[in-house]
Amino acid sequence: MKIIIINGPNLNLLGTRETNIYGKETFEDYLIKLKKKYRQLELSYFQSNVEGELINFIQDVGFDSDGIILNAAAYTHTSIGISDAIKSINTPVIEVHISNTFSREEYRHQSYITPYARGLILGFGLDSYRLAIESFITK
Ligand code: DQA
Repeated sequence: MKIIIINGPNLNLLGTRETNIYGKETFEDYLIKLKKKYRQLELSYFQSNVEGELINFIQDVGFDSDGIILNAAAYTHTSIGISDAIKSINTPVIEVHISNTFSREEYRHQSYITPYARGLILGFGLDSYRLAIESFITK
């Protein structure tokens, strides 16, 4: 099973960025654990701070993967381009967020991704990604 994790802007700074909200672990360290736990999966990872690069990557992997786990970060709340990209592919997308966006500023309550995602997992810290993987493999 081919599962792709895609992280949007500023998530390259996990581990140092707003640690009270996002925790102290880097995504690279977390990914090592995920790959060990799910050896049976072909698990890939892509991060970009650039909206167009995220769209290009979604198009690249979106026709021959089994699942995409997408944390579009701030673009979640602004990007019609990423929303359209998700509509255009045939791989199911699970939207994830580390924090509970609904308990934060109101501008984080809006998501352009959710209407086209298979599901939404948020607020469980980095464990949100593992829960998304579980939902793909237990389906
Ligand atoms: C986030 C929530 C977004 O509102 C924010 O812009 C992020 C991270 C999260 O994972 O909690 O960068 O997607």
